[in-house]
Amino acid sequence: MSKVIVIDHPLVQHKLTILRDVRTGHKEFRELVEELAMLMAFEVTRSHPTTEVEVRTPLGVAKGKTISGQEVAVVPILRAGLAMEAGILRLIPTAKVGHVGIWRDPETLQPNTYYSKLPSDIGEREVMVVDPMLATGGSIVACLDLLKNHGAKNIKVMCIIAAPEGIARVQEAHPDVEIYTAAVDERLNDHGYIVPGLGDAGDRLYGTK
Ligand code: PRP
Ligand code: URA
Repeated sequence: MSKVIVIDHPLVQHKLTILRDVRTGHKEFRELVEELAMLMAFEVTRSHPTTEVEVRTPLGVAKGKTISGQEVAVVPILRAGLAMEAGILRLIPTAKVGHVGIWRDPETLQPNTYYSKLPSDIGEREVMVVDPMLATGGSIVACLDLLKNHGAKNIKVMCIIAAPEGIARVQEAHPDVEIYTAAVDERLNDHGYIVPGLGDAGDRLYGTK
């Protein structure tokens, strides 16, 4: 079963608390999502392999390490994943980016995939799927299905808040995929929103409500 890693670093939890606050406006909300993704990427990449190298300093030669192994592809789920993409690219600027557009029908809660454009070498990359909200899990499972159909094998999910229902759904459909999150909340409400959550991530990011 896929592992769930809750990132409880004080900086992550502090920023998450401000993000949840109903008084936080869209400018600050966007900045916080970007910062959270950057901090969380630090944890997601903790086990990346490195190669020992030597580097010439002004005063001598130092032993150093450079990252080796698979290169990264970031896959944000539109819209809300875009702000997370920006944060990860600040940390891993050479990552390739694949975009997947998924819209959750507010009545049926079913995911509708309306767009995808992926790097052609996605199968050779470590893929980080990013979306702030893992609610019913429908959107992320649809994205993981699509990525695997395009050959992706090494995939991690990064969200900011997850519901137990969504985690269970991902674990059942894709037991090989690890889930990194800053919080696991109580439950979903009757409209499929995470409670207490933070509301509608896309609307809060872009000021569309
Ligand atoms: C939100 C969110 C996730 C999805 C989560 O997107 O960003 O993609 O809902 O819900 P699920 O786990 O139940 O599928 P939404 O469909 O509202 O689209 P938007 O980002 O374009 O606003
Ligand atoms: N999508 C959101 O943006 N928020 C939720 O709580 C659930 C789905």
